[in-house]
Amino acid sequence: MAALEPFDFILFGGSGDLAMRKILPALYYQHRDSGDTKGWRIMGLGRHPLSREEYLNLALEHCRVHIPAKDFSESAWSAFAERLDYLALDASHPQEYRLLGDWLKGAESRVRVFYLATEPGLFASICAGLSAAGLVTPASRVVLEKPLGRDLASARRINEEVGAIFSEAQIFRIDHYLGKETVQNLIALRFGNVLLEPLWNRSWVRDVQITISEIVGVEGRGEFYDRIGALRDMVQSHLLQLLCIVAMEPPANIEADTMRDEKLKVLRALRPIAGEDVAARTVRGQYQAGAIENKPVPGYQEEPGIAPGSRTETFVAIKAELGNWRWAGVPFYLRTGKRMQQRLAEIVINFRAVPHPMLRAAVGEAANRLVITLQPDESLRLDLMAKVPGEGMKVQPISLDVALSEAYQTRQWDAYERLIMDVVHAKLTLFMRRDELDAAWRWLEPIQKEWEQGGQSPRPYAAGTWGPTASSTLIARDGNAWREET
Ligand code: BG6
Repeated sequence: MAALEPFDFILFGGSGDLAMRKILPALYYQHRDSGDTKGWRIMGLGRHPLSREEYLNLALEHCRVHIPAKDFSESAWSAFAERLDYLALDASHPQEYRLLGDWLKGAESRVRVFYLATEPGLFASICAGLSAAGLVTPASRVVLEKPLGRDLASARRINEEVGAIFSEAQIFRIDHYLGKETVQNLIALRFGNVLLEPLWNRSWVRDVQITISEIVGVEGRGEFYDRIGALRDMVQSHLLQLLCIVAMEPPANIEADTMRDEKLKVLRALRPIAGEDVAARTVRGQYQAGAIENKPVPGYQEEPGIAPGSRTETFVAIKAELGNWRWAGVPFYLRTGKRMQQRLAEIVINFRAVPHPMLRAAVGEAANRLVITLQPDESLRLDLMAKVPGEGMKVQPISLDVALSEAYQTRQWDAYERLIMDVVHAKLTLFMRRDELDAAWRWLEPIQKEWEQGGQSPRPYAAGTWGPTASSTLIARDGNAWREET
C-alpha cells in the first residue's frame, strides 16, 4: 500500500469514549495496513494526569475490546503504540497550549490534524488556544464532532468562532454515516448506473423510508444524551445526510463543493414543519422498561444520569417532503430510536404499483422495492415481481440480493478510518459544509421548539419494540406502512 503523508494527529478528548471506541481503533487499523508509517505521530490530550505508559495501557485495554480478536496482533499494536503519546492539558486554559507547542516545534510544515472529540462547548476555546499559541499552520485541519450546537443560533456561533481561526477548507465537520461503505455505494449505485435514474423521481417512487434503529440505550452517557435527544443526536446529522444522498441531483463531479452544493439544495427544499404541522407530521417517543433480546432492560427514566421527569425524546419519526420538481408529493419517512427491536440502518425506496395491474399479486399489489441496508450487514436488495410457481398467473416479489461484504474479499474499512484518512489527505467531500449545517438546523428548529413549548410529553414505547404506535399511524394515514409491517 502507498505510503501516507507524514502527519501529526492531535486528539482532544484523547481519553474519552469516542477516542477509545472509534478513533484509536481506526488509527490502529490504518497504521497496521499502511506501508510506510514512520511519519505518523499521535498525541492524545486530556485533563486526566496520566503518564504516557498509563495512557498506552488505557488505550490497549479499550482497543482490545473494540478491535475484534482476529484483527488484533501484539506486534501491530506495539508498532502502533510507538506512535502514540499523551499530554495532560486543560483545554480551557490558554497558557497550557505551550506544552503542545513544545511537542509540535519544528514540525510546522507537516500535516497537522486537530481532532476535537470533546463537548462542542469547548470548540471555541480550543481553537482560540491553538491560535494564541501560534499552532495553526497552513497545513492544519480541524475536525469537529457532532452535535454542533443545540440550535441554529448556537451552531452559528460555533461556526463563527471556529471560522475566525480556520478557513472553511480547513474545517472538517464529521458525520460518520457519510463514511460508511454502503453510503458510498449508494452514490455509486445512483450515479454509476443508468437503470435507476429514469425511475428516481415522483413519477415512479411512491415513498422513501430511512430508518436508523438501535437496540442500545444511552450507554453510560445519560447525562449528555438527556441534554441532546434523538432529534439533535441522529436526525440533524445522520438521517438528513442520508436523505440528501438519496434525493440530490446528479452532481457534475465528486468534488467536495459540487457534491455539497447539491446536498444543500435538498436541505433547502425541505418543506418547513412548524406550529400545528408538528403534531401531524412528527412523532417523538421515549422508551420504557422492556426486553431486548429476551433480557429485561430499564426504562429511559431509570437510566443513570437522566433528570427526573425528563421529556427528552429517544425516538423520532418524521414525515418530510421536498418542494422541488423531482420529489414534490413523495413522502420521505425518517425514523430513529434507541432500545428498538432490532439494530438496523436502511433506506427503502418503494416504487409505485404497476400502472395496469393485469397480473394479480399474491399479496398486496405488484410493485418494486429497493432496500439499501447499512447495518447490521451491508447489502443491496431489489424486489422484482415474478410468477408464483404452479398453476395460474399470480405474481409475488423475489429478491435480487447483493451482500456487499461477501461480494468482495477485502476488509471493509470502518467509517472513521475512511474519514480520518480523508482529513489527512484534505478531502472534504464527505464532510458537512457550514451552510448545510445551517439549513439542517433551520428546518429542525421549529420542530424542536414546538416540542419544547407544547405541554406534551414524548409518547411511551416499550424497549424492544418498533417505537410508539403513533409512528405506524403517521405513515398509515398515507396508505403506507413501515417495511417490517408489510
Ligand atoms: C452517534 C450517536 O452519532 O451515532 C449515537 O451520537 C449513536 O447516539 C451512534 O448510537 C450510532 O452510530 P452507528 O454507526 O453505531 O449506527
